[in-house]
This record gives sequence, structure tokens and C-alpha cells, in this order.
Amino acid sequence: MPVICLASSKGGVGKSTSAVLLASELARKGTAVVIIDADPNRPVATWARRPGKPANLTVLSTATEATIIDDIEETAAQVPFVIVDLEGTASMTVAYAISRADLVVIPSQGSQLDAAEAAKAIRLIRQQEKAFGRTIPHAVLFTRTSAAIRPRTLQHIKSEFDSHGVPAFETQLHEREAFRAIFSFGGTVDTLTGSQVSGLEGAVNNVRMFGAEVVAMLRRTKDKVAAA
Ligand SMILES: Nc1ncnc2c1ncn2[C@@H]1O[C@H](COP(=O)(O)OP(=O)(O)OP(=O)(O)O)[C@@H](O)[C@H]1O
Ligand SMILES: [Mg+2]
Repeated sequence: MPVICLASSKGGVGKSTSAVLLASELARKGTAVVIIDADPNRPVATWARRPGKPANLTVLSTATEATIIDDIEETAAQVPFVIVDLEGTASMTVAYAISRADLVVIPSQGSQLDAAEAAKAIRLIRQQEKAFGRTIPHAVLFTRTSAAIRPRTLQHIKSEFDSHGVPAFETQLHEREAFRAIFSFGGTVDTLTGSQVSGLEGAVNNVRMFGAEVVAMLRRTKDKVAAA
């Protein structure tokens, strides 16, 4: 049921990477997952053609502006998790997808310029909330951050989002070779081997934490809606 969109008009912040990591982690836990690859370049469909994609993870790669809402609704009626990877521009497809989301994940690298782009995505979400008269849960996901150091700039950006009521994930998707490697070799962090890439254990733990936090966030927002 839940529809999770990865959105940011900034290119290259890790939307597709995060979509594949999250979907693979949910699939590993045994549920069926569909990724709707709504980017006209179809990066997730290209990944899915390589070996190692979990059998219970399907990629739908025909979505267009004209079909995206129907694609999301039809898929959400059939499978427990739908993940929508969006293109890195502002488009009607992005706006439509957000309007149907149970959670919008906004990947952002930890710089002020990237934060400004994330703020654009948040403004779009708030417009869609008004247009559709419903709350659209969302949170910023810091990506490509260093596993070793916690820069002050990132702390500052986090507290700025916080002061504007914008939640951020506790988990950051660090800059990791394994997260690039899945797009070269195919598969997931669980099918990569130590001879293909180093630092696998850290990457696996990072993805586990991300998956668990998304599930916990969905649960919290569902409870809130039920209580309202
Ligand atoms: N956490 C990460 N660790 C290492 N490399 C990463 C990470 N996240 C993204 N990358 C790399 O950064 C580049 C852009 O990532 P990705 O394609 O996921 O971004 P995107 O937001 O989907 O881009 P676009 O807007 O073009 O769709 C890719 O080369 C990818 O391998
Ligand atoms: Mg992408």
C-alpha cells in the first residue's frame, strides 16, 4: 500500500540510488515491492536488467506524465510497497506523483546550495497539500555524506530545516563505493562480494538503518492519520 516518492529537482543527489537501496532492503525483508521508474532516462530499469535483482522486486518503466497517477494507484492496490523514482527536474509528473505519496523522501547533499534545492521540493509538497487538502508526510535524507566526519555545515542545515518544521532522517546515506557498485554490477548490497567492493559491512548496516527508519516513519504517520 504505502507509496514512497523520491523527489528533488536537483540532479544527482541520490534519488535513484536511494530508491534502489530502499526497495532492495524492503524486498529482502520478504515483501513484494514495485519501483515505478518515472524518470524518462529510466536509470532503475537499467539497473534491473543486470543480474541480482530480488525476485520480489519489480520495476515498472513505462510511466509518463499522462499515466503516472493511474500507475501509482493501480500498483498501490496490488503490492505492499510502491517506490517512485522521479526525475531531477520540476515537472507535472513530479507534482502528480507527490500528490499520491504516503511519504516523500527528499535526498539532499549536505551543502547550503543543496539545501536550497531541497527547500524547493518542500514548497512543492506544501502546495500539493493545499491543492489536495491532505497532509503529505515528508523528510529530508542527507546523502553522500562522510561516514567519518560530521561537518558543522550539515548540523547547521539540519537545524535550519528543523526550525522550519521540516523533518530529516536520522540515518544518512553516506558516500559509499558499494552504493555506486550496485549500478555497475547489478544486484544489491547483499549480493555484492568483498572482491567487487570494499567497505561492504558499513554499507549493509547503513541500508538496514535506512529501511528501518522509513518503515518506522510510515507507521508513525499512519497512526497520526488514524488518530485524526
Ligand atoms: N550514497 C552514495 N554513495 C556513493 N555514490 C552515490 C551515492 N548516492 C549517489 N551516488 C552517485 O551519484 C551519482 C548520482 O546519483 P543518482 O543517480 O542516484 O542521483 P539522482 O538524484 O537520481 O540523479 P538524477 O537527478 O539525475 O535522477 C551517481 O553516479 C551515483 O552512483
Ligand atoms: Mg535519478
